[in-house]
Amino acid sequence: MTKTAVVGGTVATEAWAGLASVLVSDGRIEAVVSPETRVEADRIIDASGMVVIPGGVDPHCHIGQPLGDYPMLDDFPSGTLAALAGGTTTIIDFALPPQMGVHPLEILDRRLDEATASRCDYTFHGCINPGTEDIPQVIADMVERGLRTVKLFTTYRDLLMVSSYVVRQVMATLKEHDGLTYVHAEANPCVEAAQAHAAELGQIDASGMASTRPEECERDAVSEVLEIAEDLSAPVYFVHQSTPQAVDLCVDARKRGVRAFSETCPHYVTLDDSQYRREHPEKWVCCPPLRSRETLEALVRRIESGFVDTVGSDHCCYDTGQKSERADDVRVMPNGLPGIETRLAVTYTALVASGRIGLSRFVQLTSTNAARLNGLFPRKGTIAPGSDSDLVVLDPSASRTVSARDLHMRTDYSPYEGRTVKGWPVHVLARGEVVVSDGELHDPGPVGRRLDAGPIDASR
Ligand code: URP
Ligand code: ZN
Ligand code: ZN
Repeated sequence: MTKTAVVGGTVATEAWAGLASVLVSDGRIEAVVSPETRVEADRIIDASGMVVIPGGVDPHCHIGQPLGDYPMLDDFPSGTLAALAGGTTTIIDFALPPQMGVHPLEILDRRLDEATASRCDYTFHGCINPGTEDIPQVIADMVERGLRTVKLFTTYRDLLMVSSYVVRQVMATLKEHDGLTYVHAEANPCVEAAQAHAAELGQIDASGMASTRPEECERDAVSEVLEIAEDLSAPVYFVHQSTPQAVDLCVDARKRGVRAFSETCPHYVTLDDSQYRREHPEKWVCCPPLRSRETLEALVRRIESGFVDTVGSDHCCYDTGQKSERADDVRVMPNGLPGIETRLAVTYTALVASGRIGLSRFVQLTSTNAARLNGLFPRKGTIAPGSDSDLVVLDPSASRTVSARDLHMRTDYSPYEGRTVKGWPVHVLARGEVVVSDGELHDPGPVGRRLDAGPIDASR
């Protein structure tokens, strides 16, 4: 049994931060001790001057997800290696039926099978698509496979969009299983009207992206879904919220006792819609789109105030060739940005290095809350005796310039190309194994474990 000690760093969990050493054995955290304690270990990692946080938990990524006409270019080995390189040691991916007619359990079994090649620990959100029959039984079968979250879409007609009746049915069923409904909330009538208008004006290409899915689309869908959640007293989680208005709706609902949760993404707090006025605007086409600088600033203020629960990458691994092929029409081009590897550093730079939030809040946003809201806490998302020894050691003073050439995601670009970031991992331990050492990634092989979600604690 190999013992590792990470000594003398500033250890931060959601609940506390201070100088400490972390002792690790057999893939678990054995103890957290004062930095003066003499430790004996087979391997000692000196973390003096560095920050030690729980491994990142990414609640939202699409690795090698077949979806529509464009295949995502990564697979579980490459996608999870990129995750590890960026300090994410657990991912929760999606089993989205790639086209109409594919049964949610068929795709789930396929994805579970493919994911056995993962380098980090993983689980999935199930999905209910249009036409799924006997929803309570399908969800019971998902729970049987260790899942307690299901993602629903209020948009993407003829692919994933479901009716509010289905939203209600899924929420009611998941509530019975102590599960949680994840929702991509953009009101489709609003989206389609905005797209039609943009097309009429000859602005349906990537440079017009921001106007094709305006903020009110998000507001309308969030309101409608919150009403259902309130009616059923069921918890609900909104993925990739891009506006302060959407977050505020959740905050107001929480004040009325609704268990509503907000996720945002690194791109919504760092990149604004001026990206669509640059050369090759298609590189930043994602749903919802990037918003105005004013909206971005207001969203960051919501994070500062504690109103956003998680930061997910919404990683989609397309390259510039795929993005540009139909950049003349955002209705048919692939949407989504690569970012599983840059999630922690981009978020750290925007929020912690800038002084807007502290380390504990950063840990909560990038790890603890995602673990909690996926039934994985306290095994994941914290540094405490008995938890998995997933640790990230980062040097808060070191800077790095983002370049796709240095990254491990299977694409030729990063939305953050040329930006200077802080908080890049120096060392990463995944269940005790050192997978990044002095900034160098070591492939541990297919050691990622499939995680079973426990009952979800949606009480906070
Ligand atoms: O643009 C995005 N977000 N694409 C990925 C699929 C989704 O909606 O999450
Ligand atoms: Zn989505
Ligand atoms: Zn997504």
